[in-house]
Amino acid sequence: MNVAQSPRGCAGPSRHGYLRATLTGSTLGPPSQAPNLSNLRATTVTCSLRHSLERPFWPQATDIPIIPPQAASQSLLPKSAGLQANMDLSKRDSMELPEADRAFLETHLPSSRSTSRPDLPFTTLTFATSLDSALALAPGTRTVLSGPQSKAMTHYLRSRHDGILIGVGTALADDPGLNCRIAGVGGYGGQGLEGQPRPVVIDPSARWDFSENSKLFQLCAQGQGRAPWIVTALQQLPADKAGLLEKYGGKYISLKMETNDSGRHHIDWHDLLVTLRRNGLRSIMVEGGAQVINSLLEPQSMSLVDSVIVTIAPTWLGQGGVVVSPARRRDSTGTPVAAARLTNIQWHPVGEDVVLCGQIKRDS
Ligand SMILES: NC(=O)c1ccc[n+]([C@@H]2O[C@H](COP(=O)([O-])OP(=O)(O)OC[C@H]3O[C@@H](n4cnc5c(N)ncnc54)[C@H](OP(=O)(O)O)[C@@H]3O)[C@@H](O)[C@H]2O)c1
Repeated sequence: MNVAQSPRGCAGPSRHGYLRATLTGSTLGPPSQAPNLSNLRATTVTCSLRHSLERPFWPQATDIPIIPPQAASQSLLPKSAGLQANMDLSKRDSMELPEADRAFLETHLPSSRSTSRPDLPFTTLTFATSLDSALALAPGTRTVLSGPQSKAMTHYLRSRHDGILIGVGTALADDPGLNCRIAGVGGYGGQGLEGQPRPVVIDPSARWDFSENSKLFQLCAQGQGRAPWIVTALQQLPADKAGLLEKYGGKYISLKMETNDSGRHHIDWHDLLVTLRRNGLRSIMVEGGAQVINSLLEPQSMSLVDSVIVTIAPTWLGQGGVVVSPARRRDSTGTPVAAARLTNIQWHPVGEDVVLCGQIKRDS
């Protein structure tokens, strides 16, 4: 094995017993041709360390098991090594956000200082949108909008919040992981589940039919994410699903919700956020989908939002998409006025996308 020494000359096993290294394209071909490490001889792998070992992990790096000297001296790796290596290829796909992008975000993120509203979590509204304000091509579908750099930003934001909140529509459409893959958090180089946010799903009628096969629960089983809290209007909870939640450390939270004439639930955002704060979450990022965001942007709840971070992708999805567009507001004369506006704004290009940060302007 040809391993370039790090600047500090300390190439060696991490505390997890793996050397963080990058397989070079010249040796192994493009990333799409995943190498079968079980057939590689130790002497044919060329690795290069990309950063000082002071950092716990590197972005998109691949872990290669350190082969004990006696095994390396044999002609082939042990059979189990290849299996282990493939598992690690898929498990340890951590990412990083460049320092410049982190610095840009800093003033828009929760700080460790106590907030002016101690009964409420710091609440960030964040999502990715197209140029025509769509989150997805159609209801029930998952649509990739933002590029890889923006995706790393989302995971960085997750590392800076105690909880991530979505609606059941998103849970059903996306089978989301709702964890954080930033290098150094629990499951990606860090201890336990440190830095992993708590997923919170608004699911008034307990429609989400999750199981051990749901991505979120697979991540829990692998120690790479937390189990969800599901906020429901039901008093009688489905026992089998409650049992599965409990097994992984999640739970249902029952909250009173109003229903309108068409039977649609309407949560009281203040009650919800106070409840989440009482349960220990000091900061929440609300990720979507559209119904959740549109309801949070209603006049009676928008003041609960401390920060808005929107990624805008250079694409129009076209009509029929899942659109962020809060209800129309009118002034005292009945004339339509803007539903909401941002202030203290900053724009920052990230890859092909642009990130817009700001705060919701209060009515004067
Ligand atoms: N681009 C992005 O950043 C992004 C982020 C997240 C999601 N998405 C996409 O957005 C789509 C899902 O959006 P969506 O609007 O269909 O679903 P959603 O907002 O995720 O969930 C809607 C459901 O959640 C419950 N809900 C939402 N707001 C509520 C409120 N204020 N009070 C009580 N219950 C509430 C209701 O459940 P009941 O009907 O059971 O009462 C409602 O039907 C998916 O395609 C997903 O991929 C995109």
